[in-house]
Amino acid sequence: MTPPDAASPHHLLLGSCDYPEHVPRDCWETYARRQRELGLTFVRLAEFAWSRLEPRPGEFDWAWLDEAVEAYHREGLRVVLCTPTATPPAWLIRTHPEILPVDEEGRVREFGSRRHYDFASPVYREHSRRITRAMAERYGQHPAVVGWQTDNEFACHGTGRSYGGASAAAFPGWLRERYGTLDALNEAWGNVFWSMEYGDWGQIKPPNLTVTEANPAHILDFSRFASDQIASFQREQVDLLRELSPGRFVTHNFMIFESGFDHYEVARGLDFATWDNYPTGMLEFFAQGIVGEEDRNHFARTGHPDLVGWNHDVYRGLLRGAGRLGREGEGTPNGFWVMEQQCGQVNWAPFNPLPADGAVALWTAQAWAHGADVVSYFRWRAATMAQEVLHSGLLRHDETPDRGYAEVAALNQARFPLGEVPARVALLHDYESLWLLGAQPHSASLSYWAQTVTYYRALRSLGVDVDILHPDADLGGYAVVVAPAITLATEERAVRWATAVEGGARLVCGPRTGFRTPSGQAWAQGQPGPLAELLGVRLLQFDSLRSGLTQKVAGPEGDFQAHAWAESYRLAGAEATHTYVGGPQGGLPAVTRQGRATVIGAHSDALIRAVLRDVLAEAGVETVDLPDGVRLSRRAGVTLVQNWNPEAVTWEGRTLAPVSFEVVEESTPAGDDPRPARLG
Ligand code: GAL
Repeated sequence: MTPPDAASPHHLLLGSCDYPEHVPRDCWETYARRQRELGLTFVRLAEFAWSRLEPRPGEFDWAWLDEAVEAYHREGLRVVLCTPTATPPAWLIRTHPEILPVDEEGRVREFGSRRHYDFASPVYREHSRRITRAMAERYGQHPAVVGWQTDNEFACHGTGRSYGGASAAAFPGWLRERYGTLDALNEAWGNVFWSMEYGDWGQIKPPNLTVTEANPAHILDFSRFASDQIASFQREQVDLLRELSPGRFVTHNFMIFESGFDHYEVARGLDFATWDNYPTGMLEFFAQGIVGEEDRNHFARTGHPDLVGWNHDVYRGLLRGAGRLGREGEGTPNGFWVMEQQCGQVNWAPFNPLPADGAVALWTAQAWAHGADVVSYFRWRAATMAQEVLHSGLLRHDETPDRGYAEVAALNQARFPLGEVPARVALLHDYESLWLLGAQPHSASLSYWAQTVTYYRALRSLGVDVDILHPDADLGGYAVVVAPAITLATEERAVRWATAVEGGARLVCGPRTGFRTPSGQAWAQGQPGPLAELLGVRLLQFDSLRSGLTQKVAGPEGDFQAHAWAESYRLAGAEATHTYVGGPQGGLPAVTRQGRATVIGAHSDALIRAVLRDVLAEAGVETVDLPDGVRLSRRAGVTLVQNWNPEAVTWEGRTLAPVSFEVVEESTPAGDDPRPARLG
């Protein structure tokens, strides 16, 4: 097979994650050749290899990695090297046990797996810089090395925050920088409540092990602090890599639905984002409150398209103006990579079903259609040792091709063109709001993720492409802006949103929008705080509905049943389009509208979908009612029609095979005569 490079460079490229340190030396040459023959372009190496790179303090062994890199280079593969700081070796931890992190229960998290470090540890920072410098000096200019990944999956396994040791020691100083005086901190946190006022910076600790819940303001600032530690930890590595490895990209492999840090802050300074896509594991772990039990069975072998799509769209929007593949002129302005793509079954979920036939190809095609420039499979060969022996690779333990391999080979016959994702709808996503709703969810049925992804899912079920952006991003040019759960409002944010609406955008806000100030208190003038004028409402009541308890809502489309959450408003300029019927909020507005600004106070999938459909129609964004599990994604002037269902679906006169995709020309949701596109 011809490597994809031989045709046009401007199409999706593939790669894999390989571990030369896990296999005998005589495998390296063969693996590199087989990867090239499969059509792979990239190989990612060494993210957990510290104990082999520096077996004893200051004693480096580069010979094996030199040889491995050369083996890939000879076959024309491009190497992505990683800083190995997710796995500090035993000698370092035993000499400096203070590097170890402390969990929320106050227990030290021990050596013996990975990610056992506190981001704030000055000792660990020094060693992180030392190993980064050593690797960058050795490989920074190697012709095979096209880029770097920092560390591996920050915050994975709940390691974004350490509640003792170095983090606990650094937290008061960080607060002092932020607030200047204790009076300012006590005021911002509202510490007069329950006599929580501090008289000395040294009295402040992380917000764990409190008798009952900690102050949400305390939790919010600790989350910001922890996020800052990750950002500055990474920045130290990025600075060294920029200095010693010029012309190479620097990225990080982010995670599925990770809440442990502000991704927008941590991504700053990277060339583009990458993320690790495990659709079946994601469905087991993160679908709570978003995808019902029946659907979880239905999509068990593919994962759910919108959970996966959500992550793609988050990472496409994390950084703008980047997207390099290591050579000038490639990639797209908002490009991202999937650094680890599931290509068989995973090992870490409660259940780990085999993916359906066609799933690996479908996942890859969806990644491309959502803006990925590269998809790299995890992992080349299944591990024969340690924690991940039950995880698949492209090759089985015995080096024969596993189920995903043939799908990857077939994908390489196609040429998926790079180009823009033409989204006219922006959905706003904010980690500070996530932390606040996490600190006080008030309804066990409605997390930040559940509320936000419900809106995303409604948009996707209407065949609409979505950009996911920070709430303070430039919103110019969008026809519709959706803010499902931005509970933290600032004066500046209110001005930005008002400017977008004045500029012609339609704004749709979900419940709890603008409830809190930037320090996590309730706005004293009432909610939605500084957004009140733009939205034309004042919050009246909010009702947390236990599972099984519903609240009826009536509107022009008919009746709806809200679950989990229902809030009502006093009209202050807006009009009510939907009203509660019966119950404590009977007769009060449930959905309101002032000019181009809509507020939806009730949580109901059907209501959210109906309101969004109307708003999209008014904004001139074409919608289409897609069957469950059928999705459309557009890129570079073509539409990817996907069927994620385990059975065939007939839609718009065409029969879509189970777990399959088709690429059609023209970016129409339901064109009259869509022709299969010629890819390449
Ligand atoms: C990822 C991680 C990999 C591997 C993989 C297994 O989260 O980055 O190292 O553990 O999961 O699915």
